Amino acid sequence: MIKQHPFQYEEWPDDSALSESDRSLLQEARQVTELAYAPYSNFWVGAAARLISGAVVTGSNQENASYPVGTCAERVLLGHAALRYPGDAIETLAISYHPKGKSSHVPLYPCGMCRQALLEYELRFQRPIRLILSGMEGAVHCIESANSLLPFAFTGQGLRS
Ligand code: THU
Repeated sequence: MIKQHPFQYEEWPDDSALSESDRSLLQEARQVTELAYAPYSNFWVGAAARLISGAVVTGSNQENASYPVGTCAERVLLGHAALRYPGDAIETLAISYHPKGKSSHVPLYPCGMCRQALLEYELRFQRPIRLILSGMEGAVHCIESANSLLPFAFTGQGLRS
């Protein structure tokens, strides 16, 4: 039997289609690309999340001379949110990026490790995290839940006997 696993997302030509609060969250993600520490890849990533309380937390990628030690913007943000606002779930998370000195027009999708980390945060708070993905300008993608980016994910079921 062949089955399908559908994936839906919104695609807009630019951020003018977004609500005021989503546009300002994306703007914040674009701004915090400036706080990336990315001397090895020169690929600057910024993330900004609006929590249920309305608080906003941010993250940027933090690299290391020992490359695998570096951390993506999304996971820096999750640590920040968990520590600074415990118990306050993430409602919407915007991600942007630019290669040093260049612009970016194509939305950035989170890496596999970050997809797993976002999924855990959704499960932990029993709440979907809405994603807004865009470069510094141009197309914007919106996804209702990070979980749809990681079909058939490992959720830890069976870990605890
Ligand atoms: N990076 C992120 O911060 N988020 C992603 O979703 C993809 C990749 C960072 C990791 C590394 O510092 C640089 O971008 C190049 O891979």
